[in-house]
Amino acid sequence: MSKDQSRKDQKPARGERIAKRIADAGIASRRDAEAMILAGRVTLNGEVQRSPAVNVTHRDSIVVDGKPLPKPDRTRLWLYHKPAGLVTTARDPEKRPTVFEALPKDMPRVISVGRLDINTEGLLLLTNDGGLARALELPSTGWLRRYRVRAFGTIEQKRLDDLAQGITIEGERFGPIDAELERVQGGNTWLTLTFAEGRNREVKRVLGALGLKVNRLIRTDYGPFTLGDLERGTAEEVSRADIMTATTVLRSGKGPVRLRGGTRTDEAKPEGWAKPKPKPNARPGGKRPAKAQPAKPAGRAGKPAEKRNERPDNKRGGHGAGRRR
Ligand code: URA
Repeated sequence: MSKDQSRKDQKPARGERIAKRIADAGIASRRDAEAMILAGRVTLNGEVQRSPAVNVTHRDSIVVDGKPLPKPDRTRLWLYHKPAGLVTTARDPEKRPTVFEALPKDMPRVISVGRLDINTEGLLLLTNDGGLARALELPSTGWLRRYRVRAFGTIEQKRLDDLAQGITIEGERFGPIDAELERVQGGNTWLTLTFAEGRNREVKRVLGALGLKVNRLIRTDYGPFTLGDLERGTAEEVSRADIMTATTVLRSGKGPVRLRGGTRTDEAKPEGWAKPKPKPNARPGGKRPAKAQPAKPAGRAGKPAEKRNERPDNKRGGHGAGRRR
């Protein structure tokens, strides 16, 4: 029998990895679920399961810390306005306050789509579906993350323009970044950065390499979702229809769409938006967006940003995030 034939005859593994099932139930990330298994906190069909290398089906009974795994809920997604000062982790070894402890009490167990640093504010997506979280955080979604940044120091737009070609810092390559100088305020500069990656401390490292020290960082957009006027510390559930649209667009590689107050103007429409693989050296925002983005929000308030008195933290040149207008 040929190798190909024998491969065809092999049955695919039954079910799915136990850690994936736990992660998909929104209990923990897949990696944390593996750690819970190794720590003996998980039983499978009444026996302590100490190895993550086992597949399960819906017929298996899984118990974590004495509690049966909840039946999978429908996929749910929230936009959360993260305040500064919270870590995006389920358990912090340093015992600092976490996003998950601070969430409104009526929220089910959720996990975050990626992370924001402790002092970063703004839009963090939360979901009860581990599979969706993993899919949405992949850079291959082409979804753009947009940040408003206040940094100590000065810089010229010409130098920022070079970031459209990407940058290498200490041997690590960062992809194309659309960076716009907004205004200078005392010793600080306000900027907007837009890019499709989600690397650790990307904004701080990139701007640090240009001699700027970030002292305030606010994520305003994540793919088709926008912070808009979401009050600091609150979470807002995304409608089923908007989840469907976002995931359908993800699968099809088509875009853009606007969801929950989507902010993109035609000028700002990123060429690579929502495509599976952004072009390596393309400017992520296509041509630099015309002034005053967001200019044409659809959704939350349905009015142009300037007319709906958008909160200053999500408005160019503003400051004082979290203040109610
Ligand atoms: N870039 C950073 O430096 N920090 C974040 O939290 C997000 C992006």
